[in-house]
Amino acid sequence: MIIDIIGAPTAFGQRKPGVALGPDAVRFCSLKEKLEDLGHQVNDLGNVKGTYGVWAGPTSVKDDEGLINLKEVLDFSKVLADATDESIEKGHFPFIIGGDHSLSIGSVAGISKHYDNLGVIWIDAHGDINSSLTSPSGNIHGMPVGVLLGEGNEDLINVHGDGAKIKHENLVIVGARDLDSGEKAYIKKHNIECYTMTDIRQNKLSNLIEKALEKLKSCDAIHLSLDVDSLDPIEMPGTGTKVNGGLFLAELQEALTTLYRSGRLVSADLVEVNPLLDNGNETAVKAAELTEFIFGKTQL
Ligand code: ARG
Ligand code: MN
Ligand code: MN
Ligand code: MN
Repeated sequence: MIIDIIGAPTAFGQRKPGVALGPDAVRFCSLKEKLEDLGHQVNDLGNVKGTYGVWAGPTSVKDDEGLINLKEVLDFSKVLADATDESIEKGHFPFIIGGDHSLSIGSVAGISKHYDNLGVIWIDAHGDINSSLTSPSGNIHGMPVGVLLGEGNEDLINVHGDGAKIKHENLVIVGARDLDSGEKAYIKKHNIECYTMTDIRQNKLSNLIEKALEKLKSCDAIHLSLDVDSLDPIEMPGTGTKVNGGLFLAELQEALTTLYRSGRLVSADLVEVNPLLDNGNETAVKAAELTEFIFGKTQL
């Protein structure tokens, strides 16, 4: 396949400096060469550029809905949505490296334009399914799933086309272990498929990924959104919202192999690598290795 690497160096969705360095930290791990070695054609499109400031620090400007850095997140989302839209239009596989998870508002908006029933597999310690009404923090990186489902701020919802970008029945959340009370209520109310860490410990991750693929069988394409905090902090120290009791590398590698073999992925985000919180560049190195499994690496 033809992979477009799109760096999305935004930090506006949260308040810890450093996550905007994620795309370059992952690139430095010979990412392009690794993916070429797997037989793909790889275009590194660099980092998206727009009217936003790449070096967003913890500005913490709350608007009257309690949203932090709304204008900057909006500006960034629009630029990124154009980039992913164009990549899909060309028949390429956009691989978006963050940056904080608010970037998925833009990445998925651009991709979903091309499908009637885009499925999303959201691998994360968190649900990111808050809105301005339920968010405990005001940080927009805790809201992208909510926004994509059509909840909360209208301007965010209407990025790159009016209205919700995904349907409740086309979403599967995997690895959740730190859901806010409003998120739990929302997931139950809308009957959203959600595999928690308890489910994963009792059933095995790759089996649940098979179940997710079955649940999404009527989808015309699947987008993967992979937050590195889904992994245990022992594996991924360089990320801003760590939660103990997470996934191990080996099981996620196996699950990504299952996804790759399905042949149904059309796009993916890799988010929340923060080099300033890392031990050396350990988190980026492991993120680059995981990426190889998204694109078909095998152990033999
Ligand atoms: N649920 C919390 C919040 O809404 C944490 C979200 C963390 N999200 C992330 N993409 N790391 O603020
Ligand atoms: Mn997330
Ligand atoms: Mn998370
Ligand atoms: Mn509904």
